[in-house]
Amino acid sequence: RTRAGILGTGSGLPKRVLSNFDLEKMVETSDEWIVTRTGIRERRIAEAGEATSDYVAIACEQAMTAANVAAGDIDMLICATVTPDHAFPSTANVVQERLGLTKASSFDLSAACSGFLYGLSLGTAMIEAGRAKYVLVAAGDLLSRIVDYTDRSTCVLFGDGAGAVVLGPIESDRGVLSVALHSDGRGKDVLYVAAGGSRKPASAETVANGEHFIRMSGRDTFKFAVQAMVSATEEVLESSGLQPEDVALYVPHQANLRIIDAARRRFHIPDERVALTLDKYGNTSASSIVIALDEYVRAGRVGPGDVVLLVGFGAGLTWGAAAVRL
Ligand code: ACO
Repeated sequence: RTRAGILGTGSGLPKRVLSNFDLEKMVETSDEWIVTRTGIRERRIAEAGEATSDYVAIACEQAMTAANVAAGDIDMLICATVTPDHAFPSTANVVQERLGLTKASSFDLSAACSGFLYGLSLGTAMIEAGRAKYVLVAAGDLLSRIVDYTDRSTCVLFGDGAGAVVLGPIESDRGVLSVALHSDGRGKDVLYVAAGGSRKPASAETVANGEHFIRMSGRDTFKFAVQAMVSATEEVLESSGLQPEDVALYVPHQANLRIIDAARRRFHIPDERVALTLDKYGNTSASSIVIALDEYVRAGRVGPGDVVLLVGFGAGLTWGAAAVRL
């Protein structure tokens, strides 16, 4: 059976920084509160007029360069996002045109912050089944577009960004070793955007009521997140026959340092083997895992032969993990 591996990574982040001190001027909060409760110090915010595809395109270009795979060789582009450029066409279609991925099929995938893991699983399966040779799996969100900057309980958490990997055939002892995906729709009200879809289309009333913004029960999300990260980590360790000490880098969804710490302690994974970017970028939704992976790959902190364990959770509720030998 063909094994699918990560051949290259990339990321795209806005230049504009929104620091905790900037937020102090916008809502009743403090740098001290945000840092101790979340670990976040600053996040990146896209300029007005920009869209998710702008950053996904940058990430995809970088990933193709790193993988040494040409645009014309990509068979499929999957873009995980909950903040697409438009309802349709898909953000992936916009990127497909911009990058000249002439032979690629392309579509968006909606699994909130777990989106990259969902895309990774799907792309891997396409390659293993012989239905594709090279798949671009991208994740991008501009959550700033749906964050209420008068709601201190959410606006301090989120940032904008995108990441991507090129998946392709790889020798059999490397590649995606195991993936676990889960969802539980009973948690659909823990984290949601009420309006703008078919249930409640945009109207003057939905806008006035702030129903296009993220609403979140922070404590419920927190409790779910720790348990989801632990169970998904356990599952992929077991299915790939790995021990926690085999993991060169644990790459968790970058939502909250306390959630990450609780999960890594359960497996006695030392601090220095945990990828952290949330201090700089906050929670960038679907893209946070792949942005972190890209940064650590580019910094030479992990490389070919190393095992990375990717794990995340998000609205839906959704959660999952993947073990990959780079
Ligand atoms: N600054 C100052 N005070 C604040 C802020 C803020 N930014 N936000 C909330 N508070 C206040 C609250 O109003 C509350 O005050 P009260 O006790 O007077 O009511 C107090 O701080 C404590 O609030 P809690 O919500 O209990 O604080 P907690 O320690 O749980 O931290 C947090 C809140 C950071 C949101 C935490 O619950 C969390 O990280 N949850 C998970 C969120 C998450 O991961 N979301 C992303 C999911 S992924 C996706 O799909 C997008």
